[in-house]
This record gives sequence, structure tokens and C-alpha cells, in this order.
Amino acid sequence: MKKKLIAGNWKMNGSLAANEALVTALIAGMVNTNCRVAVCVPAPYLQQVQRLVTGTAIELGAQDVSQHESGAYTGEVSAAMLRDFGTRYCLVGHSERRQYHGETDSTVAVKAQRALASGITPIVCVGETLEEREAGRTEEVVKRQLAAVIHTNGHCISELIVAYEPVWAIGTGKTATPEEAQQVHAVLRGQLRAATEQADRMFILYGGSMNAANAATLLSQSDIDGGLVGGASLKVPDFLSIVAAAQ
Ligand code: PGA
Repeated sequence: MKKKLIAGNWKMNGSLAANEALVTALIAGMVNTNCRVAVCVPAPYLQQVQRLVTGTAIELGAQDVSQHESGAYTGEVSAAMLRDFGTRYCLVGHSERRQYHGETDSTVAVKAQRALASGITPIVCVGETLEEREAGRTEEVVKRQLAAVIHTNGHCISELIVAYEPVWAIGTGKTATPEEAQQVHAVLRGQLRAATEQADRMFILYGGSMNAANAATLLSQSDIDGGLVGGASLKVPDFLSIVAAAQ
């Protein structure tokens, strides 16, 4: 059976002091951990967190990557730069990037391609808004978002991770029920199966208000291979409980 992956998404939170305290406490609390654990940190802290997690069971992730390879793109961070700091994963197309930074399905697909080309595993986020769910469009929306990534990345698709994050569940305390989440994960798995023979070994994470109380039932669903955890990833006992639920 594949080990689950629990990835923390710190978003725009942290400081040198807070990061050190958080990561040190996570390492101390992760004894006999039998799942994969990653933290996706703000770009300026990659070097610090790389130093803290090297030689431990925690892997390093970033939260975004430029769609460009290099050059005159002020403020952007390239995949090669992320790789320089030992970054193993990179979130791509998080709904906050789609919503506040105008990222389209095609931008997201190219970002995933850039990450893959640098040996970084993109965690491609898909998910519907509340309005789209209420209009019965959930399946159509997530399939469209994933289709763009499949179209651009061809057979390399098997190297990426998908995260289903219903937008209405992010940071709201509202979680999709395990059945609702599983239903969408099964749709995504089916779409991956049509694109690659490797679909069953690929990871599809659930994200959106995952916490210590709901993690175990979500993670017990057959197509939920792990979690992408925002708010709870900043609280040591909560994140450790989620990691424990993933064993
Ligand atoms: P949340 O965020 O756990 O705070 O809902 C998840 C995410 O945005 O990745």
C-alpha cells in the first residue's frame, strides 16, 4: 500500500523565529512516522527550512513557481531556483493564486511543466467554488482544470500530484464530507487512468479545512492519498495529529 502524503501549506505566514520553532517541534514529535510529510514554505524561507529539515523525515516544498524559465520577469522565482534549495514539491494553481493572481488553467499547466523539467514534483490544485458546486458543476470544473495539465504535460503527468481543494472549504472550517471528497477523487482518478497507466500509483490529496478531528475519516477513503493542510499546518499538535491519522 502506498504511504500517505501530508503536506503543510504555510501560505504567507512565518518568520525566522516562528519557522525554527515550528519545524523543530514537528521533527521532535514525528517519531516512527509512517507517512510522507512535507512543508510548503514561503520562498524567502526555503534556505532556512532546507537547513532545518535536511536529514529528517520532512521534505521541502514551495508554494508557487514561475511559468518562465529565466529572464526579465521581476519578482518571479524559477523552478531552477527552487531546485537550488532542495525543493522536492511545489504547489501549482492553488485557488488563491487562481483567484487573486489571475492564474488560468493554461498558466497552471505550464507551471507544472516548468516544475517537472527541474525535477520538482508539482502538486496541482483543482477545485470548484461554492457557486459552481451549487450549480452542479463540480465535476465539469475539476475535469477542465486537470485536462489542461494533462494536455500540456502528456506522459509526464504520472510524475505529478493532484490536490482536490474545494474553494468553499479552504480556510472556512467547512470540510467536504468524506463521501463528497471521495466522489470527486474518484472522478479525478478516472480522468488520470484515461491519461496514464500509472494513475493508481499517483497521489490525489484532499485539502480544505482538514484538521485533527476530520483527518482520519477523510484519509480512510479509497482515493484520498493524503492531505494538503493550510491552517492546521501552523499548529504543531494539530499537524502532528493529522500526520498520526495518516499512518
Ligand atoms: P486550509 O487550507 O486547510 O486552511 O483550509 C488548505 C489550503 O489552502 O491548501
